[in-house]
Amino acid sequence: APGVFFPAWTYNGRVPGPTIRATEGDRVRINFINASGHPHTIHFHGIHSAAMDGVPGQGEIFSGETFVYDFIAEPFGTHHYHCHSVPLTQHIHRGLYGAFIVDPKQGRPEANEMVLVMNGFDTNFDGENEIYAVNTVGFAYMVEPIQIERGRLQRAHVINLTEFDPINSIHLHANFFNLYRTGTSLEPDEFTDTISMAQAERHMIEFTYDEPGHFMFHAHQTEFVELGWISAFQVS
Ligand code: CU
Ligand code: CU
Repeated sequence: APGVFFPAWTYNGRVPGPTIRATEGDRVRINFINASGHPHTIHFHGIHSAAMDGVPGQGEIFSGETFVYDFIAEPFGTHHYHCHSVPLTQHIHRGLYGAFIVDPKQGRPEANEMVLVMNGFDTNFDGENEIYAVNTVGFAYMVEPIQIERGRLQRAHVINLTEFDPINSIHLHANFFNLYRTGTSLEPDEFTDTISMAQAERHMIEFTYDEPGHFMFHAHQTEFVELGWISAFQVS
């Protein structure tokens, strides 16, 4: 956020970490190098063996050590990964998470795609967030709206990795979207304009804007809006 800096813990120097994308059935190998001073893991949401679960005792990597997470990508859907070392609130809210997208074998219709990771930052370490955002920087997409084309299908992978608040939400202005819960089906579950999501819930949403203009999207908790989680599309 403007003028606010936060000592993040990161995968590859960024928050969220890199988006990892595969097709269902692909073999995925992640080379994990712990160059930090704390133990960390990568805990993937998906189906895999206990040895690849990335929790303390199985796949927790100590400072200076390396590990290869090796598994088959399944099921298809909008997933995520995060550190599972303790204390968990610290390892997650400091930035150790990212999107893990698994595409269905048969593919999906052509679309403009985006990843929206809902997150928050406790910048004074009092156990509550001072900043909320999608993709880390509060108000960023109000300053520079996401440019989209009218009439073109938009597909957003929306992932809630907000720590300290049990619920986050997303609302699109002047439009409705098809909701694919957890992205694990080819047919939409619901047609709506607002969804609430608990921590770690994630959904795929699809929508099209037919007219040009400036359209907001944001959390529907107004406290989160005022603290940064408000964004916009510029449709042209
Ligand atoms: Cu960690
Ligand atoms: Cu999790």
